Amino acid sequence: MAPMEGLTDFTYRNAYEKTFGKGRITKYFTPFISPNKSENFLAREIRDIDRGHNKDTYTVVQVMTNEAKDFIWTAKMLYEKYGYSEINLNAGCPSGTVVSKDKGSGMLRDTEKLDRFLDEVFEDAFIRENIKVSVKTRIGVEDDDSFPQIMEVYNSYPLEELIVHPRVRTDYYRNELHLDAFRYAVDNSRNKLVLNGDIFTRKNFLEMKEMFPEVDTFMLGRGLIADPGLINVLTDDNPQAMVRDLNADKKLMKELHDLVYAARTAIMPGDTHAIHRMKEMWCYMEYVFDDCKKEIKAIKKSQRMADYKAAVDVFFNKAMLVERKNIIFSKKF
Ligand SMILES: Cc1cc2nc3c(=O)[nH]c(=O)nc-3n(C[C@H](O)[C@H](O)[C@H](O)COP(=O)(O)O)c2cc1C
Repeated sequence: MAPMEGLTDFTYRNAYEKTFGKGRITKYFTPFISPNKSENFLAREIRDIDRGHNKDTYTVVQVMTNEAKDFIWTAKMLYEKYGYSEINLNAGCPSGTVVSKDKGSGMLRDTEKLDRFLDEVFEDAFIRENIKVSVKTRIGVEDDDSFPQIMEVYNSYPLEELIVHPRVRTDYYRNELHLDAFRYAVDNSRNKLVLNGDIFTRKNFLEMKEMFPEVDTFMLGRGLIADPGLINVLTDDNPQAMVRDLNADKKLMKELHDLVYAARTAIMPGDTHAIHRMKEMWCYMEYVFDDCKKEIKAIKKSQRMADYKAAVDVFFNKAMLVERKNIIFSKKF
């Protein structure tokens, strides 16, 4: 499961594991934590990485920084204090405020600097001996011309895995995937490769498997939020023929929703914040239901918990879960 800020916090990860994920999701990634100079984490970050909140899932903590020494103390603290032995570097975030500080996908602008960063990290004996380091990357900033150089840097280090989202920074989450660049990665990576991007349906998955038979590990974000039961297709021995029980999936989706809702309302003060966060989920889930326009509108309009809960109950009674061939998310990020 991909890291998604505002969506895949520990409340969602745990609810997903209980309902759909058990035995099917091998790794859950936390949304990025961003170490600052004070060598401490924010309260929100601590809550998300807390061992007690991650005891039922294999969780990898994602870190966003362009300072090797900050990555190193963070990784050590995550190991020693929180018991994590696998850490992921964010080299993909396209947000303007992040990229302007040369973080996230901004790290890809200067391949020499990226090389120095990784060199310093892997020079550290403690990291080398105790911590598995992986990278989640895009394929460039404005274009993919320098992707071969970026790959050469990654190839110089023993990464636990290299997760590639084959888009450039300026694509954000839009535009077609750069499949030629991903092919280059498949043909040239010395590290284990993971494909991330635009697997929203069974059809998308089958097409990717056909195009890249060498790849056996996939990271999904929006597709799992929209259609959590899609995981049963992806993990089936015969994903093409697997017959889904959409009624059972819909029931489990309600359970997943209720678990997330209960956990979020328990930690978030007041109605507004928790409801806003729940509505983020609906921006994806609404795509896999028929007969529900009016009911979705009522959910999105609700401001108070009582209204929200009532609207969700009506929705799940009325709406029909369907398996789509294609999904186009209209929300522009
Ligand atoms: C709302 C939102 C939040 C995201 N937060 C993160 C994040 O914290 N760290 C990260 O590496 N990627 C983040 N991503 C990117 C996803 O992990 C993933 O790479 C992207 O959605 C493409 O995969 P998908 O097509 O399966 O959704 C985010 C994406 C979205 C839409």
